[in-house]
Amino acid sequence: MSLNPRIPGWRGQRVWVIGASTGIGAAVARDLINAGARVALSARSRGRLDAIAEGTDAIVVPLDVTDRAAVLAAAAKVRDALGALDLVIVLAGTHSPMRADQFDRAKADQLLAVNLVGPLNCLEAVLPTLLAQRRGGIALVASVAGYRGLPQALIYGPSKAALIHLAEGLYLDLHRHGIGVYLVNPGFVDTPLTQRNDFAMPALMNADKAARRTLDGIAAGRFEIHYPRRFTSWLKLLRILPYPAYFWAVRRFTGA
Ligand SMILES: NC(=O)c1ccc[n+]([C@@H]2O[C@H](COP(=O)([O-])OP(=O)(O)OC[C@H]3O[C@@H](n4cnc5c(N)ncnc54)[C@H](OP(=O)(O)O)[C@@H]3O)[C@@H](O)[C@H]2O)c1
Repeated sequence: MSLNPRIPGWRGQRVWVIGASTGIGAAVARDLINAGARVALSARSRGRLDAIAEGTDAIVVPLDVTDRAAVLAAAAKVRDALGALDLVIVLAGTHSPMRADQFDRAKADQLLAVNLVGPLNCLEAVLPTLLAQRRGGIALVASVAGYRGLPQALIYGPSKAALIHLAEGLYLDLHRHGIGVYLVNPGFVDTPLTQRNDFAMPALMNADKAARRTLDGIAAGRFEIHYPRRFTSWLKLLRILPYPAYFWAVRRFTGA
């Protein structure tokens, strides 16, 4: 049973991809453009967005998700250009590995500003349109790192846990309005974000495959889209363990 409206095909769908300049977002944007969707591309790096849009009818609307006024202004531009919003995918995010003995308040604030306040700014900017349309959808890209506490993810983990919680609440509130809410929880994907990790990443997936899984899951109307399953299924199992077993297992597998 699908929890959200299905999307039978991407041709003509009006999609705003926020965080489209690199990694999973860039791959999602390319897939959508190739499938005939009408796409608006946002992130801070205008040059990278222009390169993706070149030779297509995609529009480029650069923004910094931490800048509330800029996000509101960008949403107005996207609405004017596309006429309506069938789907908004919020991928903008950053990662800064941190453990408690290197706690850095300024880095924590910066990470929360991008990963949590950023999506809230996007939500504020698109909710009135989605509610007025009584259709369309919003996808939030969180992470399996938001399931439970993990080493190196002292602030990243809570930022993604908050997005998971936010998506659940949004689903409960928006379903009755005919609006789809999609929660994307990737495992490890090879992108600029993970290329700074100094540990072996199990079941590392490439960004093109992650994009396909993301779009296929949304098209199928799933609420939670997680991949690669051979990795995320284990994390789902760890998620339900009692604390003594959970802490033992994480220490055992990560060496933390
Ligand atoms: N890669 C993984 O293994 C993995 C796993 C789980 C979850 N995720 C999540 O997936 C999402 C995409 O990550 P990725 O791996 O594809 O990383 P990425 O290649 O670093 O992409 C991050 C995207 O967010 C944009 N961005 C960052 N800060 C921004 C800001 N202040 N305003 C607007 N855009 C901003 C970046 O563009 P600009 O720099 O041009 O602004 C870029 O387009 C993130 O939310 C990440 O947490 C990734």
